[in-house]
Amino acid sequence: MTGREVSVLSFVDGETIRIMTSAQDHKRAKDGDQGLNTGGMGTFSPSPFYTEEVDEFCKKYIYQATVDAMKAEGRPFKGIIFFGLMLTPKGPRVLEYNARFGDPEAQVVIPRMKNDIVEVMEACIDGTLSEIELQFEDNAAVCVVLASDGYPVSYEKGFPISGLDTVEKMDGYYVFHAGTKFNDEGQIVTNGGRVLGVVAKGCDLKQARLNAYSATTWIEFDNKYMRNDIGKAIDEAEKNEA
Ligand code: GLY
Repeated sequence: MTGREVSVLSFVDGETIRIMTSAQDHKRAKDGDQGLNTGGMGTFSPSPFYTEEVDEFCKKYIYQATVDAMKAEGRPFKGIIFFGLMLTPKGPRVLEYNARFGDPEAQVVIPRMKNDIVEVMEACIDGTLSEIELQFEDNAAVCVVLASDGYPVSYEKGFPISGLDTVEKMDGYYVFHAGTKFNDEGQIVTNGGRVLGVVAKGCDLKQARLNAYSATTWIEFDNKYMRNDIGKAIDEAEKNEA
């Protein structure tokens, strides 16, 4: 199969499925989707490639059908289903299912969700998800992963991180910790390949991308590495539309 990949997360209570807004991951370490595969170097949401037509197709053939099939096999599923989709010339196809949130997809999806996530999770447990409609802000979010240079092969760690307090004060900006820890002096230091997910919202994908890349300049640590083209696919989508 060939085509663009889109990730769709969903809540499921065994019978009902509620779809979250779409997202798209950048898995390769280097700009231009070059380099080795990683756990994800950045994401954006929504995906401009997840059109109404794609949504209709998936609703008809994929989402509810998955939940119904699991129930029919005697294994009703409650929790999060992550649909890894490929938009092929013949229509959307499922590449993979994960029974968990996507990382770093969740970082751009959850900040845009208007519902109280605990209520939604409780409805999954109680089997009352049909009473809940998920609502998402009419905006966009971009996540840029700050990694340790050399990831995913070899890298140094233990470097102090500065600037986290700047992000904390800003509305619509978030930092998700991945590979960090407190050192003996109580400082937050790098402790992994993917160190932080820096997220910003914006009125549209372009603005969210500008905001997220601004926020990456507020945070510093030795050997900081990131991709510079997270969300660049957005420009391509716009060109195709024009
Ligand atoms: N970002 C892909 C995953 O979480 O599997």
